[in-house]
Amino acid sequence: MKVLITAGPTREKIDNVRFISNYSSGKMGYAIADYAYDLGYDVYIISGPVNIKSINNLNPIMVESADEMYSEVLKIYKEMDILIFAAAVADFKPVSYVDGKIKKNENHSNLLIELKENPDILANIGKIKNENQIVVGFALESENEVEHAFIKLKRKNCDLIILNSANKPNSGFDGDYNTITIIDKYGGIEEKPTMLKSECAKEIFIKINSLLNKG
Ligand code: PMT
Repeated sequence: MKVLITAGPTREKIDNVRFISNYSSGKMGYAIADYAYDLGYDVYIISGPVNIKSINNLNPIMVESADEMYSEVLKIYKEMDILIFAAAVADFKPVSYVDGKIKKNENHSNLLIELKENPDILANIGKIKNENQIVVGFALESENEVEHAFIKLKRKNCDLIILNSANKPNSGFDGDYNTITIIDKYGGIEEKPTMLKSECAKEIFIKINSLLNKG
């Protein structure tokens, strides 16, 4: 079985020294990749810039921007049996990139940076996947969490969506723990207690395998 995992943040360049990013450490995605490796799967990681390594010395395909991540996903997605999108992909990027360093205005007026939407990698793969592929999305929510996550599952045509909270302790970005709710396309909702991201990875694969067995 071949498994693709996207992990980490993306960086959307403003100029040669500045970018827009987020607090993703990559730990959730890398934990999933390492657990998939332990299961004996062929593992492919496409990773934004992170300061962590796979414990199994898996070599990620490193990218910076959402566009680069999307381009790398498109190169290999067709061969994958399972695709898990754990990356915190920036929804927006600057409309234009300044080749140099933007200077402060003489009159100290505000600097306005216009942003435009990035490609939605998960949603686009959800449109073109084949019926034998399992697509797992994540949802980082801050209110009406289950409702928003389920809408995302439907809108992006996922088989599973892993909900985690953006504003609760031991959930989401950076820490070693996460508090996930696994929602499936049949409407099943499984709230999990706070656990190590490596243990979350195990729970996610238990669910994936139950979907695979469902056929
Ligand atoms: O990396 P860690 O520090 O361990 O933190 C883990 C995590 C919080 C990053 C992870 O658990 C998580 O929630 N990842 C998804 C974060 C996110 O972008 O959530 P979202 O609800 O905005 O995105 C929904 C889904 O669409 C995600 O699967 C995301 O990968 C995908 N997406 C989003 C935007 C975009 N342009 N393309 C995408 O593919």
